[in-house]
Amino acid sequence: MSETDLKRECAKKALALIPDHSIVGLGGGSTIRHLIQFIKEKPERNIQVVTPSTQTRRLCLANGLTVLHTEAVDHIDLAFDGCDQVDEQLNALKSGGGIHTLEKLIATMADEYILLVDQSKYAPTLTFEKPVVLELLAEAQAYVTHQVKQLGGRPVMRQSEGKDGFTISDNGHPLMDVFFQNVRNIRQLNRELASIRGVIDTSLFVNVATKALIAGKDGIKWLNK
Ligand code: 5RP
Repeated sequence: MSETDLKRECAKKALALIPDHSIVGLGGGSTIRHLIQFIKEKPERNIQVVTPSTQTRRLCLANGLTVLHTEAVDHIDLAFDGCDQVDEQLNALKSGGGIHTLEKLIATMADEYILLVDQSKYAPTLTFEKPVVLELLAEAQAYVTHQVKQLGGRPVMRQSEGKDGFTISDNGHPLMDVFFQNVRNIRQLNRELASIRGVIDTSLFVNVATKALIAGKDGIKWLNK
């Protein structure tokens, strides 16, 4: 099975978990794009969407799905998202999109937050080949840089290729990529990063995901707490 087929299988399985007439959170990425196509094929199920991702929002609207404003929603039945890596404790690292603050909000508002991944994204423990992303107040940049170095991180302000200045998140804040080696205690690292004044949120998801669906050549497996 190709990677695309695995992602589609994962999305198909996810569709089967969504109750009729429910509000579902959808993050970003290619697996979520497959799920949108499946939801579109079932208009009679009346599934409404909340999303932290501008791209997902546009795609849902283009496919005729109802997208609710997050600020008007106080409860989400279940939410699905991709990630860059997930481990056996359901710790997850997200670093690509820079929308982790809203992703975590939607995850927390949902009864279940289920990660959809193919086998290549699973590791017994997170390897930190990709950075932890911090969304931060612009005024705190120098302070956060200093604090992050104290924790053994190598901070790099995110910049878009060919553009002047730092990349700004959808929420209007700069993003700092922080590279770590030899992380011994993921929970503690996340606690320490999140408690630096000026950090809005980290892209480490600790104690956030409730399950993961992992698609591999031998089928789809559940990862539970
Ligand atoms: C970015 C993310 C995305 O959700 C993730 O990369 C999407 O992955 P895929 O395209 O394989 O579904 O977490 O940080």
